[in-house]
Amino acid sequence: MEVAAALALLLIRQRINGDTPEVRARSLNTPSMAIKNRNVPDNPESRRIGASIRGGGVQHFWLPKGTSQLPRVAKAEGVYVWDTQGNRYFDMTSGPVAVNLGHGNRRVIAAMQEQAARVCFSYPAYLESEPNSRLADLLAAQAGPGHDRAFFVSSGAEAVEKAIEFARLHAVARGEASRFRVISRLPAFHGSTLATQALSEDPDHSPLQPMLQRWPRVPVPFPYRPPKGLTHDEDAARCAEILRETIEREGPETVLAFIIEPVMGLTGGASYAPAGYYRRIREICTNYGVILIHDEVMSGVGRTGRFLAGHHWPGTQPDLIVLAKGLGSGYHPIAGFLAPDAMVETVVEAGGFHLGHTQKSSPLACAVGLAVVQETLERDLVSRAERHGATLRERLRALQDGIPILGDVRGLGLFNAIEIVADPVARTMLPRNLDVPAELSRLGREHGLLIYARRIYGGRFGDWIMVTPPLIIEPAEMDQLVERLAATLLAYQDRLRAAGHLG
Ligand SMILES: Cc1ncc(COP(=O)(O)O)c(C=O)c1O
Repeated sequence: MEVAAALALLLIRQRINGDTPEVRARSLNTPSMAIKNRNVPDNPESRRIGASIRGGGVQHFWLPKGTSQLPRVAKAEGVYVWDTQGNRYFDMTSGPVAVNLGHGNRRVIAAMQEQAARVCFSYPAYLESEPNSRLADLLAAQAGPGHDRAFFVSSGAEAVEKAIEFARLHAVARGEASRFRVISRLPAFHGSTLATQALSEDPDHSPLQPMLQRWPRVPVPFPYRPPKGLTHDEDAARCAEILRETIEREGPETVLAFIIEPVMGLTGGASYAPAGYYRRIREICTNYGVILIHDEVMSGVGRTGRFLAGHHWPGTQPDLIVLAKGLGSGYHPIAGFLAPDAMVETVVEAGGFHLGHTQKSSPLACAVGLAVVQETLERDLVSRAERHGATLRERLRALQDGIPILGDVRGLGLFNAIEIVADPVARTMLPRNLDVPAELSRLGREHGLLIYARRIYGGRFGDWIMVTPPLIIEPAEMDQLVERLAATLLAYQDRLRAAGHLG
């Protein structure tokens, strides 16, 4: 291990051993930030999940009865979030990979206020809105030729559904009404409405399974753990070939679309495929007349160091692109899909795409999206994501010798993940009965780190957490992130060792 890295680890370990979690949490406080919220009941009993109060936060829907409620948010600024007790947390994952611009961005807030004062809502069936067309123009310019039109809704799942419905209407308009099947990958996540869960959930284990359409699924090429005897490239070629076989098996005339996350979010921990895979699946979709959809809900709007993740692989462009989280950066719900002019024309000539929602392309949402994208471009956050992402991965890799459970560090730009293993040489997973992401998320909070974590498919493909800070992160803040993450991982490693889970 490099001397500097070893010393840094030693320092972190000393800090952990010397402090109780409470002291560590307090040490993150800025005293002037301690905030007393008079509306928060101080009685600890009323702050327990399941206490006999009516209403309560949404956490009552999942936290077990009797557990303490989560800290309450008081304010947020930049990469930090404060609770009502004055504790300051580093927002290491930008919430669920949403807050690309960080918190409290003045320009976005001003644009939101100005638009709200002018007109929040106006239905696009009656009147056009300037924020709507300006946002669409800007996205089309950034996305490049072939991504000419934009249709906006509120959430990522809605936008995925709209893209699929649009693809279907396009097929019908072209006289290909037999096309309806949507192929997705396994694992995948495209949202949690009934339609998008059918493309996402573990088909064998979801309690909703009887209610979900059973679509064909094809495997994902995982770089860290390809099947035995195959290189990542060979595995990627195998996965692409399975797509071709699946289309043949289902009947090419019935297949409407194939949807992928070009760089995977939580379901693949920032995994991506070799360039040849993207070329091959594009060829296959073109040959069979299948619409290729890129779900860039997490990866879009600069996060990977390109405006779109798909831009990393020129010449493999999809037909439809779905954007969400980073588009509104958490300031207002907005999502949408981009489509080529020719597809839109075909649908319009056949009667048009009317399957919208009340809030489609609302002036307020579009004004926020516009300010977010302008800010992203004018501050050059896209190339900044590429530069800072490379540094972050280097810094995290330097921790691997001292923290062997840190099996893999991967990603593009500031869209990264770390994979946690029992043995870094054999790449063995930890026992499936340990909920590794949930444990790390809890320990992270004790170390002043907010970590978005959810276990995917019960850990069947491995356990990872995303490392996706806001794109505005400064070098000194990166030091803090790495230090707190290292402390969290060391604490978890000690715990695993004490429980006999490590060799
Ligand atoms: C890749 C991907 N697609 C779709 C969605 C659904 O987005 P939303 O939560 O806005 O409905 C998510 C949410 O995490 C996602 O990560």
